[in-house]
Amino acid sequence: MASHINSHPRYTKRLMLRPFRRRDVAALHEAIGISLEDLSPWLPWVEDYDRGVSQRFVRESVGAWADRRAYDFTVRPIDELDRHLGNVSIWSTSHQNAIGEVGYWIRSDETGKGYATEATTRAVQIGFEEMGLHKVQLRIALGNTRSERIARAVGFAHEGVLRDEVKVGNRWLDHSVWSMLESEWWEARDRHRAEGTIV
Ligand SMILES: CC(C)(COP(=O)(O)OP(=O)(O)OC[C@H]1O[C@@H](n2cnc3c(N)ncnc32)[C@H](O)[C@@H]1OP(=O)(O)O)[C@@H](O)C(=O)NCCC(=O)NCCS
Repeated sequence: MASHINSHPRYTKRLMLRPFRRRDVAALHEAIGISLEDLSPWLPWVEDYDRGVSQRFVRESVGAWADRRAYDFTVRPIDELDRHLGNVSIWSTSHQNAIGEVGYWIRSDETGKGYATEATTRAVQIGFEEMGLHKVQLRIALGNTRSERIARAVGFAHEGVLRDEVKVGNRWLDHSVWSMLESEWWEARDRHRAEGTIV
């Protein structure tokens, strides 16, 4: 399995996905700052958020990429490359079984435009076509119906529910597990190309 991927930008119809650089901290911090209310119910790292969290994230992301542990992308509009729209990440969870996982968020003032669906579809494509994965998983906290719609739109199938999987603040959240197999990706890819989600 080819687990190392190149650091060139990837494109969709409207978006560019590229690895983080040290100087992205300010743009990341700004995007998280205006999105705290929407991010905090679902993402554990948002509790007690400050700029240091973004600094550590970018530092860790650069290291993880170099060590082939995880691939985080800053998502930018092609026509406004300085604007950080959100993150999408893909990482391997089992080299032996060629399984990976995807995760994402989009800044609050840019939601409802299909960006998460578009960026996540591109990340899944990287998983299957560049990392050589057999299966890509996605975990969604129960109750995050917006995210469930993204899972369906990208082409994931629902697998089951993991109880008390993540603690966010003082709440334990059940997570539903979704997945796509490589054999399912090719059909999804043709549909996404026809719909113009990916190029
Ligand atoms: C969930 C999130 C990623 C959605 O991003 P987005 O760019 O708006 O997603 P999309 O535009 O691709 O839309 C996905 C679906 O949600 C719907 N949607 C958008 N805004 C909505 C809203 N305010 N309420 C309900 N549904 C909404 C869209 O219409 C679309 O549904 P559709 O299938 O009917 O078209 C974003 O709100 C977010 O980052 N939330 C907080 C973090 C998070 O939950 N991350 C995911 C963890 S698994």
